[in-house]
Amino acid sequence: MALFGKNKKEGLDHSQILLPSHIGIIMDGNGRWAKKRGLPRKAGHSAGAKTFRKITRYCSDIGIKYLTVYAFSTENWKRPDDEVKSLMKLFKSYLEEALEDFKDDSIVVKFIGDKSKFDDDLRSLMIENEESSKDRNGMVLNIAMNYGSRDEIIRAVKNICTDVMDSKLLKDDIDEKIFSDYLYTSGQPDPDLIIRPSGEYRISNFLLWQSAYTEFVIMNKLWPDFEKSDLDEALKIYSSRNRRYGGV
Ligand code: FPP
Repeated sequence: MALFGKNKKEGLDHSQILLPSHIGIIMDGNGRWAKKRGLPRKAGHSAGAKTFRKITRYCSDIGIKYLTVYAFSTENWKRPDDEVKSLMKLFKSYLEEALEDFKDDSIVVKFIGDKSKFDDDLRSLMIENEESSKDRNGMVLNIAMNYGSRDEIIRAVKNICTDVMDSKLLKDDIDEKIFSDYLYTSGQPDPDLIIRPSGEYRISNFLLWQSAYTEFVIMNKLWPDFEKSDLDEALKIYSSRNRRYGGV
């Protein structure tokens, strides 16, 4: 099987490998990237945002169907005030400008997480982006913002209880499929591959239910330095894995 094109510079031949249908990325290492350069952490987040734009387009170009990026967790509010403020500012400018770019790629933008904690401007931008992209037919991009998997699971349990009490759902009908339908990722396939750059071996409250059989690839690159070739490397590793889903 020719994993690479004839010329190594051509990169990975994506038609020759089994591509994941859903990729998750924990965009980690922005702070360390900035520190290494003697820059404030917010400079790392700005550089990380550029990488996010580049890698998202690349995923769409090579035919990935779903991409979920972890942008801000339910725990990230604990960071110093000025870092949280600069992240919110960055999200706003991205939602105003960069997400427009995704129009050409027909990318459907969704936000997973609890929107209610964001200020009105940011929340409106999130809703606007979801509304304006919902009829596109390209890759689905889930941006996890104020997302925490435990929070998502508790929310699902509460909604299930309400539906059982309102007789919209029978307790005995609850199964894994029904439970999944109460998560933010309802209707989407589970991630096949989760990539964590920056060399950390943690899941950090990301897609806990959905990643029951996900393949993990940890890469020793800080997110702002992450290149298309690093994604290709992760895809190559993924395609060589033998997924057994608990079978033999
Ligand atoms: C984790 O690195 C990164 C974040 C908490 C922020 C991620 C956000 C972006 C990349 C911006 C993306 C923009 C949009 C619109 C989705 P860290 O700060 O924990 O790094 P460290 O572990 O080196 O300190």
